Amino acid sequence: MLTSIACRANGNINAVWSLPPSDGSWHSFLQPVGNTLLGRELGRKLIYLDVLFSIWMPSLLVREGLEVDREWAMDVLVREWHGPLIERADEFVDAGLLPFLVAESEGSRVGLATLLLGPDYVEIITLNSFSEGNGIGTALIESAADIARSRGAVDLRLFTTNDNIHAIGFYQRRGFHLHALHRDTMTRARVLKPEIPYVGRSGIVMRDELELRIRI
Ligand SMILES: CC(C)(COP(=O)(O)OP(=O)(O)OC[C@H]1O[C@@H](n2cnc3c(N)ncnc32)[C@H](O)[C@@H]1OP(=O)(O)O)[C@@H](O)C(=O)NCCC(=O)NCCS
Repeated sequence: MLTSIACRANGNINAVWSLPPSDGSWHSFLQPVGNTLLGRELGRKLIYLDVLFSIWMPSLLVREGLEVDREWAMDVLVREWHGPLIERADEFVDAGLLPFLVAESEGSRVGLATLLLGPDYVEIITLNSFSEGNGIGTALIESAADIARSRGAVDLRLFTTNDNIHAIGFYQRRGFHLHALHRDTMTRARVLKPEIPYVGRSGIVMRDELELRIRI
């Protein structure tokens, strides 16, 4: 019999309801319990099921990008990356032609990752979340890692620019290691793609790239 259900967000259990209602009404309580399954309800012991159900939270789904998504993906690349030609390590890649992942919540597209499928690696060429702090970026990375794993890749890799302090922290917190520093690549890229801003995020001049990798 169902004894409790939990609401998950970002992989954490944020709320738990016990069932069936003890007093004939839906007796619910909110209790941030992080990743533990411990909880108390007014002194009454809760029995948690091994399988807890995800309810109430807007569902987050990551799926392969389809042809019908391509126009949207191109709009994102133009808006967020000044066009589909993405530079990394002195080479341009046309992200508009790559396979991609779409994060979807309640029927809306909320994130995009474009992927380069290498012989023994997968590279995230672009990553965007349109509702930050809700696990979308993490879910896209996990899906990219799943693809890398299924292809027998050695690693999942990406490049980020020196000004993107948030992303540099974000990736390392998800297990990526700093692999290489590519000096002045953005300065050179700006010659071919003048739309690349001189001053990037956090008021930092965008000059270099960091290459990050995680073994699969
Ligand atoms: C980097 C990026 C993809 C992360 O996506 P996201 O959906 O915010 O990712 P998540 O929700 O999984 O995690 C975000 C982290 O920021 C924290 N956060 C909380 N509120 C936040 C907010 N309002 N804005 C940003 N981050 C927030 C989250 O708690 C989490 O922290 P953690 O790293 O300590 O776990 C997103 O910030 C983005 O699109 N940035 C602009 C494009 C970019 O820089 N792309 C990467 C370049 S290669």
